[in-house]
Amino acid sequence: QTGYVTLDRGYKNTGATKSAITFLDGELGILQYRGYSIEDLAAKASFLEVAYLLIYGELPTQEEFTTFETAIRRHTLVNEDMRKIFDGFPVKAHPMGVLASLVSAMSAFYPDLESGKDDDVDRHIIRLLAKLPTIATWSYKRALGHPINYPKNTLDYIPNFLNMMFSLPVEDYKVDPVVAEALNVLLILHADHEQNCSTSTVRLVGSSQANIYSSISAGISALWGPLHGGANQEVIEMLEDIKADGGDVSKYVEMAKNAKTTGFRLFGFGHRVYKNFDPRAKIIKKAADDVLAKLGVNDPILEIAKGLEEAALHDEYFVSRKLYPNVDFYSGIIYRALGIPTNMFTVMFAIGRLPGWIAQWKEMRETKEPIGRPRQIYTGSTLREFVPLEKR
Ligand code: SDX
Repeated sequence: QTGYVTLDRGYKNTGATKSAITFLDGELGILQYRGYSIEDLAAKASFLEVAYLLIYGELPTQEEFTTFETAIRRHTLVNEDMRKIFDGFPVKAHPMGVLASLVSAMSAFYPDLESGKDDDVDRHIIRLLAKLPTIATWSYKRALGHPINYPKNTLDYIPNFLNMMFSLPVEDYKVDPVVAEALNVLLILHADHEQNCSTSTVRLVGSSQANIYSSISAGISALWGPLHGGANQEVIEMLEDIKADGGDVSKYVEMAKNAKTTGFRLFGFGHRVYKNFDPRAKIIKKAADDVLAKLGVNDPILEIAKGLEEAALHDEYFVSRKLYPNVDFYSGIIYRALGIPTNMFTVMFAIGRLPGWIAQWKEMRETKEPIGRPRQIYTGSTLREFVPLEKR
């Protein structure tokens, strides 16, 4: 090997870049977007204001926000030819696979992106923010055998998404403000998280000068993994299994403690950075109680989730490894109460994380980061002679 390589599997102790977007303190459980605390933003801001803040670095003035929000409203329609691509998917295709494919296909519909010129990044940023929610609802409607809804320019961002998800030609749909507000909080809490797996993927793909749609599509694929954003779907399926199995959480805590032999992990627990608590989980846990109470939903798996958290937080295995509920542990309980099906949970995570991915991609380009190309420690064969087939 020429030169000296430090092996750091999973980049546990590697700073991949400098960034001014999001600040995390894993010990103190601090999360700030451009210096604003998520507690403040989740309580007082709209998701599009937070999107603007992450992407452009400042909270928008009223005029800036109106321009931004109007541009998004005007680009929510998706090219009808994208529907032909969508119609080619099997009905049972996982919505994350569909989303990653269609976002990548967007680069074919907006060709002025080749060879990294990105002449007008803002136009593509608006298109992504505007069209992702529209595309996201197609899988849900088709799985139900319901007609796909078109976006409406009369609706704000989150009500528009909810209307495309839940309205039917046979009856009027009225957006419940409790549902819209719960979604606003959840999307804000998912909006960015510094150099997590999917964001690092977006930066790495973008560092080769690949276009923004291909980079975001790669991020969607990385987020899909059950160890990352896909965990929110795994959590609910795990809680449902526990419920079906009589609700004995201690049995599952024991199984997780023997992860090496059982291969079972408590999804929604543990985090690479947060070592005392995930500040987002705290907010979401409280929101779960509030939203379910306001909606009059009594979901037995919320009690199972709390019982599991209680059991784990008093168990040496979890305490010694500093494993606490993360952002994915309670979020699915709220999505369920909002009527969103389990296989759409990670799509919701992607809608929330999109502004963060965009902000990080834009920063990577603006700071002219070099193409990402890590090294390795080679452990394969030393030099050997080729043996012709007839002699093997
Ligand atoms: C997200 O990075 C981000 O910021 C991600 C995210 C974001 O906003 O982008 O926060 C979103 O992805 C949250 C995480 C969602 N994933 C899960 O809930 C899946 C379950 N969690 C784990 O797989 C794990 O905790 C990770 C992936 C989250 C973190 O993995 P690490 O940092 O590589 O930790 P590890 O796998 O090395 O675990 C350390 C120890 C191991 O035991 P020992 O080898 O020391 O004996 O803790 C154990 C692990 O076996 N462990 C668990 C566990 N998580 C870790 N044991 C049981 N259940 C778990 N959930």
